[in-house]
Amino acid sequence: MSSIAAASQPPIVVIGSLNADLVQRVSRLPRPGETITGSELVIVPGGKGANQAYAAARLGGDVHMIGQVGEDAFGPALIHHLAAAGVDTSGIQNCSTATGTAVILVLPNGENVIIIAPGANGKLSPDLATDRLAVIERGSIVLLQLEIPLETIEVCLATARERGAITILDPAPAQVLSPTLLAMVDYLTPNQTEAAFLLKAEREASSPQEAEDAARKLLLQGPSNVILKLGELGVVIADTAACAHVPGFSVKAVDSTAAGDTFNGALAFALSHNTPLLEAARFANAAAAISVTRHGAQSSIPDLSEVRSLLAGSHNPS
Ligand code: RIB
Repeated sequence: MSSIAAASQPPIVVIGSLNADLVQRVSRLPRPGETITGSELVIVPGGKGANQAYAAARLGGDVHMIGQVGEDAFGPALIHHLAAAGVDTSGIQNCSTATGTAVILVLPNGENVIIIAPGANGKLSPDLATDRLAVIERGSIVLLQLEIPLETIEVCLATARERGAITILDPAPAQVLSPTLLAMVDYLTPNQTEAAFLLKAEREASSPQEAEDAARKLLLQGPSNVILKLGELGVVIADTAACAHVPGFSVKAVDSTAAGDTFNGALAFALSHNTPLLEAARFANAAAAISVTRHGAQSSIPDLSEVRSLLAGSHNPS
């Protein structure tokens, strides 16, 4: 994309979770009381925060991660994987609680179910995070998700606002959010499930038209922009003036894990280069589309040349 050139860029600051993902591919989900056999267990780096940091760094962003791991074997491995991608990991601290984990079952159509054990992520207190927020400056992009305590998220959003940073909140996993918190969000990026939860809607938006309606309603809760993620259908973007659908890319999906995280990391990267929003969303759609053609969380995330190839129509990731 033309707007993304190698110029100096404000830092992208991710405050969020790091998880060890325990992944099995299964032919179907077990019923209560039933035992089934899945694939070999694979353990890979994950966590919504770490995935988003990794995605932005793989694309070339200046990324700083703030988070917390346990004093066990998973912690150093997760930090090392982020550092190897170029993420500044000096804001990740240790605590005596176990590193976060996620049990992930992946179905043959690429869909998944995820159960997280927050561990150290759930203990990231505002006090512990505050001194590490010094890295946030005017124009920084601050990326948050909901796998760390809400009080920590509120402090991070308030600090980001005070410093003139741009805030992106991925409301995942979905939980009730206060109007005060949502009013500090520049870009709220729910998927269909999270949007329905926040709206207390009986069913999820299943088309861009329904998503536009949902996005407009979510705007009334306080964020400046809503980017509603629709999987292969792309995203719908709404602000108080307009609403637009940015179509996705058609690919053969094998594993949707971290597709939303890849979108958010890529969106942050594009916005840090002052890319216009619709163009940034198309760029992020392309990154997310590539990620679903590969297994795992961070292991599925593309680099800049792959995204550019898909955007240029010269790369078929399936
Ligand atoms: O969004 C995918 C991520 O959700 C996984 O990597 C898992 O760790 C959970 O946080």
